[in-house]
Amino acid sequence: MTQVPSQEVTVPILAKHIDAEDGHCWMTVLPELGSGDTAADPGASQAQLFENGAPLGPAHASHADIRARGGGLFSHWGDVLYFSTSDNADPRTGGREYTIRGPRREGEIPPRHVLGGSEVVPSFTGQSFIDRALLDEMHRHDESSGKSSWGTRNILHAFVLSLQPKAVLEIGAHIGSASIVMAAALKATGSGRLYCVEPNDAYFKHLVEFIGKAGVADFVTPLQMFSTAPELRSRLPEKIEIIYLDANHSYSNAAHDIALSDQLLADNGLLLLDDVGPSVSPRLDPEGRGGVRQALLDFAKHRPDLHVMFMEPPMWFNPCGLGIVCKQSVGHSRHGLGSLFGWLRS
Ligand SMILES: C[S@@+](CC[C@H](N)C(=O)[O-])C[C@H]1O[C@@H](n2cnc3c(N)ncnc32)[C@H](O)[C@@H]1O
Repeated sequence: MTQVPSQEVTVPILAKHIDAEDGHCWMTVLPELGSGDTAADPGASQAQLFENGAPLGPAHASHADIRARGGGLFSHWGDVLYFSTSDNADPRTGGREYTIRGPRREGEIPPRHVLGGSEVVPSFTGQSFIDRALLDEMHRHDESSGKSSWGTRNILHAFVLSLQPKAVLEIGAHIGSASIVMAAALKATGSGRLYCVEPNDAYFKHLVEFIGKAGVADFVTPLQMFSTAPELRSRLPEKIEIIYLDANHSYSNAAHDIALSDQLLADNGLLLLDDVGPSVSPRLDPEGRGGVRQALLDFAKHRPDLHVMFMEPPMWFNPCGLGIVCKQSVGHSRHGLGSLFGWLRS
């Protein structure tokens, strides 16, 4: 197949679209450019950043270095540019022009969200849910790369809050950015339990720490293991109403985790899968088999009871995409997610 080169664009970075991140680091969302670096491909971005026409850099800098040293270091991570200025002056008031050049986003360009650096406003902040200072601490955490987007966390929060599940499972909890959001919703409803599976020693330690800081430990069972561990089933309830899958993004691991989720999912339960975006999913798959998206499509192909919906651009700002699957128990009629709210406790 002939590869068509992506068209290059140069985009001005307006002061009103720049948010202070931390230290010498500033951030802005880049709706016009194709997605940048990811954990699986940390050198993916080809973007070049300019200050009054002079190149800044080096690119692909660690966010900790940008914050601590600045001096022009930058990172085009996903859809966000984390950057610093040549002399660490505030780019919003220094009177200089910043532009970024790189491959244009394929397809339609999503509208820039009026609220700047955040794709959407988190719905789970405040007294009854999570303190903004804790969210900021997690957002700035050295290990924060890989966390779910605000939009995904908003959906998880809304589902848990309104559907009031008895059991929720997160496969791939990382440092707990989505875990504390779902657990805060359980706490607000006063019942239910979240099971968080995370194998990595360092992430697991932070996960437990942040669950404690969020005041939701009574509603969470953290499990340090891989989703493939045979003993996992014995640590979980027989049926689970909501599962959030965001673990290893290779096709074979995703296929395993989807099959496991299918076995665990209660009738009319929901499975949410991160990183199913059509361009992002294959990029995150070292096996070259299309990643989570393809694994889901293959699994659901001959399953009329599984209703699959993809949240992706232009309706969904984040190109990482979110898959929502409803496992419908009655009739298998093709009414999409229509039966979802029929699952509310009767
Ligand atoms: C993208 S991060 C998850 C982000 C998290 N869900 C959030 O909302 O912030 C993926 C996580 O999955 C974990 N992981 C990798 N393979 C796994 C497996 N087989 N089972 C469970 N977790 C796994 C990784 O250690 C990593 O912390």
